[in-house]
Amino acid sequence: KKVVLAYSGGLDTSIILKWLQTTYRCEVVTFTADLGQGEELGPARDKALLLGIKPENIFIEDLREEFVRDFVFPMFRANAAYEGVYLLGTSIARPLIAKRLIEIAEQVGADAVSHGATGKGNDQVRFELTAYALKPDIAVIAPWREWDLRSREQLIAFAEQHQIPIAKNKRGEAPFSVDANLLHSSSEGRVLEDPNEEVPDYVFSRTVSPEEAPDKPTVITIGFEKGDAVSIDGVKLSPATLLAKLNDLGRDNGIGRLDLVENRFVGMKSRGMYETPGGTILNVAHRAIESITLDRGAAHLKDEIMPKYAELVYNGFWYSPEREMLQALIDKSQEFVTGEVRLKLYKGGVHVIGRSSDYSLYDQDLVTFEEGAVAYDHRDAAGFIKLNALRLRTLGQRKKKLGL
Ligand code: ARG
Ligand code: SIN
Repeated sequence: KKVVLAYSGGLDTSIILKWLQTTYRCEVVTFTADLGQGEELGPARDKALLLGIKPENIFIEDLREEFVRDFVFPMFRANAAYEGVYLLGTSIARPLIAKRLIEIAEQVGADAVSHGATGKGNDQVRFELTAYALKPDIAVIAPWREWDLRSREQLIAFAEQHQIPIAKNKRGEAPFSVDANLLHSSSEGRVLEDPNEEVPDYVFSRTVSPEEAPDKPTVITIGFEKGDAVSIDGVKLSPATLLAKLNDLGRDNGIGRLDLVENRFVGMKSRGMYETPGGTILNVAHRAIESITLDRGAAHLKDEIMPKYAELVYNGFWYSPEREMLQALIDKSQEFVTGEVRLKLYKGGVHVIGRSSDYSLYDQDLVTFEEGAVAYDHRDAAGFIKLNALRLRTLGQRKKKLGL
């Protein structure tokens, strides 16, 4: 019996590690990923060793480039936002972590995987849907749904009993729960549970407040190729470096804070606070480059399917035929989404101030109020309007006849 555990190195997953060893009596393999959460991974290795994991059973990987290139960027081509605003920073990371868990399980011949998501949230669904999609015969162990460690005291007692080191500040209940990666940090629970109480300042970790942001705007240019950002101010950057750079620019200018009450897949509403500095800039810039390179029909169809796509990502269906079908449609639309967008970042705002593309469909000659293009004859508009009005006139006549 072997199990691969998604291991952060924190107290909770360390308790899970010991619990798996003692309850299931199985060999534990740990997997720790660097997704840009901004934590050193060395300590996770040390702690795994300390808890009796064999060196060959410790997997630590830097997945930042893969995360941005194969998950974040494809999703941003869709302009995906759940319930209109949430840029899906946690949702999009789960399928990648679960995919690697399964690949490692195959590699080491494990029959189970395990994770530290609670039994009330979305993350358990995302981890497990991905695991089952990629390895239908895998067993999943979700300790939070199984064990009888019901309170913080019991967890701490279990940790002490098994010589798990506990940082001083981890003895008490954490004031809120955090999930972080290169795209965002999300904070939920405890001090944030009352949706009518403003988020306290100490919850924010990767943005200055808009009030404290510089009084002078920052102007940047983002270059796009086929729908993906490839450069900032003319400098080519890899996907992860580019997003990291946008995060710095967003942080300094107070961009990307979101206080949201959302509908979880499992049924309840939850209140969270998100900080997505770079992603917020990217989202605005992507829409701007699309505004000149996409035809109306293509653009509007994309906007129609976007909520569906976002819901699939939120609900954990990254590896589903319907998400892949929508992705194919979205990717096809990005063929000519190439060019540059100029933005002004200022006190929490992202303002488009210019866009250009060799593939622009914007025709100044066509739109100008001055006398222009031969392709457009004003007189054609009269017939166009008349025919479009035909139904409306018929309806109006009936209304009149009935005296309504
Ligand atoms: N509600 C967000 C989602 O479902 C974030 C969940 C994880 N966040 C956390 N603070 N534990 O995608
Ligand atoms: C969790 O339950 O582990 C975090 C919240 C969520 O998944 O929605």
